[in-house]
Amino acid sequence: MTASFAPSSREPQPLRFAYWVPNVSGGLVVSTIEQRTDWSFEYNRTLARLAEDNGFDYALTQVRYMASYGAAYQHESTAFSLGLLLATERLKVISAIHPGLWHPGVLAKWIATADHLSGGRAAINVVSGWFKDEFTKLGEPWLEHAERYRRAEEFIRYVRELWTSEHAELSGDFYRLHDFDLKPKPLAGPGRPHPEIFQGGNSTDARGMAGRVSDWYFANGNTPEGIAEQIHDVNDVAAVHGRVGAVRFGVNGFMVARDTEAEAREVLREIVDKADREAVEGFGSAVTQAGRSTADGKGMWADSDFSDMVQYNDGFRTGLIGTPEQVAERLLTYKRLGVDLMLLGFLHYHEEVEYFGREVLPIVREMEAAELERVG
Ligand SMILES: Cc1cc2nc3c(=O)[nH]c(=O)nc-3n(C[C@H](O)[C@H](O)[C@H](O)COP(=O)(O)O)c2cc1C
Repeated sequence: MTASFAPSSREPQPLRFAYWVPNVSGGLVVSTIEQRTDWSFEYNRTLARLAEDNGFDYALTQVRYMASYGAAYQHESTAFSLGLLLATERLKVISAIHPGLWHPGVLAKWIATADHLSGGRAAINVVSGWFKDEFTKLGEPWLEHAERYRRAEEFIRYVRELWTSEHAELSGDFYRLHDFDLKPKPLAGPGRPHPEIFQGGNSTDARGMAGRVSDWYFANGNTPEGIAEQIHDVNDVAAVHGRVGAVRFGVNGFMVARDTEAEAREVLREIVDKADREAVEGFGSAVTQAGRSTADGKGMWADSDFSDMVQYNDGFRTGLIGTPEQVAERLLTYKRLGVDLMLLGFLHYHEEVEYFGREVLPIVREMEAAELERVG
C-alpha cells in the first residue's frame, strides 16, 4: 500500500482555513434567526471566490441526500464541488462522500477527472454516516457503527491504491476490483501524491481509522482539552502504523466575530434563543445511531447539550465568539495543540468571510509571526 503524506512536509506552517459550503438549505444553525446565507449555486460561486481572496485554502461540501434537521433542500456534494472548483483558481474543494453509497472505483475515477479539470484541487471527506434513514430509504443496508468504519477504512485503502498503483486486484469484505487500472491517475505534486483524503467522525473507531489510513482527521467542535485528547489518540495509532506526523488535524468552529465582545455574545444568545426546538430535538434522537451508539460512548454528539446541537457539528464549543483579537487568540490556542486547519461556519457567509479576511486573519498572521520569532 502506498504511503500517504510525507512527514518531512511538517515544518511550521501557518494555520489554514476551510469553510463549510452551505450547499443545503437553512444555513449552518438550526434557528429562526435571520441568516443571510443561501444554498443556491450563484450564492456559493460568489462565496467561493470571496473565500479564496480572504485567506481560505479549502471549502468542504457536505453530503446529505434527504431532509432532516432542517436542510429541506440539498445539492449533491461531488457535482457541487466540481462547480466550485471550476469557478475558482486556488481554492481546494473537499467533497463529502459515503462509502456505503459509492463504489471506490467509481469515486476514484470521478475525483481523478475532477482533479484534472481543476488543476489538482480536488479532495474527499470520507463520512461513515450517521443518518440511518438516508441509507434505508435508498434501499441500502445500515451497518452498525464499527462495521461502517471497517467499510470506510477499506474504501480509503482502495481509493488510495487506485490513485497510486498501476494495477489493482482488490478483494475485501465490502468491495472487489478485478484487474483494474485507473487511467489517468489524478494529478500528483510535491507533498500531494494524490487528492487529499479527509475523514469526519470522532469515535474511537474514527480515531483508529485516521491513525491507520487518513491524511486528515476532522473533529467536531470541541474544547481545547477535547481536541488535544483526540489528537493524542490519533497520533498514538499513527505511530504504531509507521505514520508519525502523517495525519493532519482539522477542527470545526462556528465563528461569530464582531467589533465588540458584547455584540458577538448577543448574536450567539439570539441564535440559541431562536433555535428550532423540534428540529434540534429530532436530531438528538437521530444521532443515537452515531456517537452515542458506540461501545465507549465517545462518538460525535455523545455529550452535546441542546445549545451545542443548534449548530450541526458542535461548532459553538470551539468558542470562536468575540472580537477579532479574542477569536484570533482562540484560533492560536488550537494551533498550539497541533491543529492544522480550522473549518469555519458563519451566520451571514458573504459578509463574515470578508470580515474574517479583513479583521481576524491579519491578527492571526501577526501572532504566528511573533511566536515564530520568540521560538527563534
Ligand atoms: C467535519 C465533519 C464533516 C462531516 N460531514 C458529514 C456530511 O457531509 N454528511 C454526513 O452524512 N456526515 C458527515 N459527518 C459525520 C461523520 O461522518 C460521522 O457519521 C459522524 O461523525 C459520527 O461518527 P463518530 O461516531 O465516529 O463520531 C461529518 C463529520 C465531521 C466531523
